[in-house]
Order: sequence, then structure tokens, then C-alpha cells
Amino acid sequence: MKTDRELKDLWIKFFTNHGFKRIPGYSIIPENDPTVLFTTAGMHPLVPYLLGEPHPYGDKIFDVQRCIRTNDIDSVGDDSHLTLFEMLGNWTLGKCDKKEMIKLSFEFLTSPEYLNIPVERLAVTVFAGDETAPRDEEAYNAWKECGMQKIFYLGKEHNWWALGGGVGPCGPDSEMFYDTGKPKCCEECSPACDCGKYLEIWNDVFMQYFVKNAGEKAEKLPRPNIDTGMGLERTVSVLNGTKSVYDSGCLKKVIEFIKEKAEIKYNEENARSFRIITDHLRSSVFILGDARGVTPSNVGQGYILRRFIRRSINCARNIKFDCKYFSDIADIYVDEYGQDYEDINAHRDFIKEELQKEVEKFSKALEEGHKEFEKVIKGIEKHKEFASKTGEVVENKISGKAVFRLYDTFGFPFELTRELANERGYSVDEKEFEEKFKEHQEKSRVAAAGVFKGGLADTSKQSARLHTATHLLLAALQHKYGKDVKQRGSNITPERLRFDFNLDHKMTKEELEEIENFVNDAIKQQIPVKCDVMTVEEAKKSGAEGIFTNKYGEEVKVYTIGNVSKEICGGPHAENTAELHHFKIIKEESSSSGIRRIKAILD
Ligand code: ALA
Repeated sequence: MKTDRELKDLWIKFFTNHGFKRIPGYSIIPENDPTVLFTTAGMHPLVPYLLGEPHPYGDKIFDVQRCIRTNDIDSVGDDSHLTLFEMLGNWTLGKCDKKEMIKLSFEFLTSPEYLNIPVERLAVTVFAGDETAPRDEEAYNAWKECGMQKIFYLGKEHNWWALGGGVGPCGPDSEMFYDTGKPKCCEECSPACDCGKYLEIWNDVFMQYFVKNAGEKAEKLPRPNIDTGMGLERTVSVLNGTKSVYDSGCLKKVIEFIKEKAEIKYNEENARSFRIITDHLRSSVFILGDARGVTPSNVGQGYILRRFIRRSINCARNIKFDCKYFSDIADIYVDEYGQDYEDINAHRDFIKEELQKEVEKFSKALEEGHKEFEKVIKGIEKHKEFASKTGEVVENKISGKAVFRLYDTFGFPFELTRELANERGYSVDEKEFEEKFKEHQEKSRVAAAGVFKGGLADTSKQSARLHTATHLLLAALQHKYGKDVKQRGSNITPERLRFDFNLDHKMTKEELEEIENFVNDAIKQQIPVKCDVMTVEEAKKSGAEGIFTNKYGEEVKVYTIGNVSKEICGGPHAENTAELHHFKIIKEESSSSGIRRIKAILD
């Protein structure tokens, strides 16, 4: 096994042969989940089904899911951290048969037809138990029966899985590790150490519990599930015995390309810059290539995208790599991933254009930054002049505050400011800058992880009503402006809906009233909301609205509201429009260029 493709294919073959159905991968931007900016795990878009909603593909499913995690962004550039990864996932819904899943996991890992890992090269961990849940002897015994030799009991910090915000379905897990064969680092050496002897490749989560609100105790899930996830790039790297994830597959191809074009030679010290460009541009390609049309901006996903691109530009400066080659890197990624993700393929030109636009914008910001830098110097010179009269001594030093402002407002990298300062015989207050930077990092870490408050994948009645209102809103907009108006984003909390769509002008008061009236008319007509399961092709043919992102889509749910609306959607929804009472738009504003945003409530 050498490549990402081969591992993906083995995964698909294995679970298909075992009676699991492949579901389409979801968008990288979560729909109707206000708690996070990106899809962070294969299970993430499946939360409603993990909480009991029937899945149209049945209760044994698997997929390949693109995920972004930004909480480790500062570690990117080392051997193993990536902001984007593909997760191989599989699920058994409504049933938690640990023995069955562990047997499957063992077979996939050791069978010569699949990963063919010798059992002595494997180790697993299981939950040691605490006040929330008992010691997982069931999992332990299941591994023993398979013939697993190295089984470790570990505590909650290692063997309990929950989503980032700590809210939602959760439970004890069993992690599988590749034993590199390195000597033990100490007597107690186990997969809990980070000595590098054991490398994680797969995780079986036994979703038997559920946390309703942040900080609350976990309750038993009436219908437990199994959720498993394997990080594709890491596993390929581990199985190939390469030191870093950048040493194989498509990432290697991009590193090699940058090495070829950069004027500064690759070495251990500057490797980080090569790797950050490789990682961040891949994430940017996935975000720009997503059917939801996110572009660089100062908020939400657009902010993270901008950060990815600008950080890549800074790294490109460090190694004298011309940013015009970002387009070629985008091509390498689109060629590779377009096979699996049709929307990435369809957006090739858009991706390249947006990358170049951001490069230009950032160059302008840097120019402004240079002007600002000159102002700072002038300020100090003036201060010196004044001080010379009073005898006060003023150092040739730029304050950390000013350096941080250059960084934060004008995107001036610290190193650049220091370089310019030194050229003029100035130093910079690095310590104060670092303090400011840390404060900022903490703030953006919270924002990037996007964990705001509870209510993940909320399936409450309130949200179901807003979900139905969202469909009516799109129908109203298309009725008024034509079918070209499409959803560009949706976000629902129990209090309000937020809906982004393409439109070339600010809506007038009259237009807004017209939209409200259309929705309220549909509410007054008390129309039943009908749900049918059909193939993607049938759905398309029936004229259903929806983002058709994946060619593997076979069956989807289509919600029909009389002859007003027909949309592909995971649900849940109100049963009748009468449940919506009254629809009211509370705000209409620009979201990004050519995209409007409506916020509305039901009262
Ligand atoms: N949801 C589990 C994980 O992300 C499988 O590790």
C-alpha cells in the first residue's frame, strides 16, 4: 500500500464487501451548525442520524469525508499536523456491537487482502473507566479474542471521544496504533507516550452517551452507535514508514514542485515554509472549490481562508517562491482531488482567480504597511528631537505594540518589520510583540475552533421550523428573482435562521415585504411537508433544489412543500407549514461580493 488512492480504494472495497453502503461526502462547510466553521470529522455532518433520525441509506454506512481542523494551525509544518485531511469513516447506526466492529477493524488491519499489518506491529487502547462509564471490558475481550497482543487500558484523556465543543454524541473509544518497532522509551511506555514508538491510525468510537449542553453530565443515548475514523494522510505515511506526511502522495508532489521553483534551497530550517504553503494552499483549494462559494473575507470561513492564503504568501517570501505559481499548485490539487470531489473540479478557474486576487490584495496591504512603517519611524524621530531638549534618552526601538499593529492591520510579518528596522538602525521590542501576539492567538484560536456555545446539530422542534422556513425563503427568492438565485450558505440556531444567496443588489423595503408575504402566505395555506427518499438522479430530474456535490450520491431525502418548494435536505422539518406561525425578516445585508444575507425569525 503506497498511495492515498490505494488506501481509499481498499476502504471502499472492504466496507462494501461487508454490507455497508457508501454515502456521499458532505461539504467542507457545515450546514445548519452554528457551532463550528468547518466539518471537523466524518461524523460531524451525521449528528442528526447519530441522534436517531433515520438515514436514507440505512444503518450501515461509510464514506470519505474532507475535514478541516484549525485548532492546531500553529503546529502545521511539523511532521504530522495538517489543517485539511480526508477521513475514512464508517458507522453502524442504532446499534453498538463492539465485538462485531472490533472484528471488522482487526480484519481490515491484518488481512493480506487489505492492510496486511502483522499483529505484533499493532497495539490498541481501550477505556479504563471512571464515574461516567465503566471500564470497557467488552472491547478488551473482543480484541483478545481476535488475537491482539498489546492492549492498554487508558483514561478519559486518551480514550473518550467527543466533538470539539464537548456537546453532542460521545463515548469511550478504542484507538489502534502502528508499533514502529522502536525500543520502549521507559518501563511504562504505551500509546499514551509521545515518544514516537506508537502511531495512531484508526479510532473506533462507541457512541453510547450524549451531552446536551456544554458542561453537563453525559447521559446514555437511547440508540447508541459506532463511529469510526481513520485519517487518510497520516495512515498512508505511517504505513509507508515515512517520517512525515509530506513525504508521500500529492503533498510530496507539491513540496517537490516548490523546491524546483523556489530560489532558496530547501533545508531543515526553512522546511516549515515549504510545508505551510503545501498545507495551506490545499485547504484553500478545498474551501474555494466547495459548492458554497466562500471567498476570502474578514469573517467566518472567509477569514480562515484569507489567513491560509496570506500565510502562504509570507512563507513564499521567506523562500523566494513566486506567488504566480500558486495557480500551478492549485492545478496539482484539482487534478488529484477533482476525481473524488466534483465541485472542486468544477471550480478550477474560480479557485485560481481567487488565489491570485488575494495575492494582489495582500501586496497592496503590504504597500500600505510600508507607509505605516515610515510613519512609525518618523514618530520616533520626532520624539527623539523633542527629548534631546529635555535630556530624556529615547532608544532606537520600535515598540511591540507598533510591530503588532503592522502585523495585525497590514499583515506585516514580524520578520519583515525587524528586517526593515535593522536596515534603519532600529531594533524591535520582540518581547512585547510576543505578548501581544499570544493574546491575539488565544482570541483567534477560540474563533478558529469556532466553538461558540451549545446546540450542536440541533434537532429541536424550533430549529426544524426554521429549517422549513429556510426552504420557503429560497422558494420566495426564486419566485421573485428567478431560478438562478441559489443558496450560498445557511446557518440555523434555535432563535433565528441566516441565509446567504446570490443577488446583485441590496433589497428594498418593498422587496423584503414581498418575500415575507410569500412565505407567510405559504404558512397560512397550512401545507403539509412531505419527505421522499429517491436517487440523486431522480431528485435532479424532479427539479429539486440542492447542491449536488458528489457523484456517488445514490439516495437522498427530498422535502416537498406543496408546489411551493422541493429541496434535497437531511431534515428534520416541521410537518406542516402551519407550525411556522409567522415569518419575519430582521436583517438584510451584504455577506460578500454578490452575496446577500438574510436573517429571519418565526414569531
Ligand atoms: N469521530 C472519531 C474521530 O474523529 C472517529 O476520531
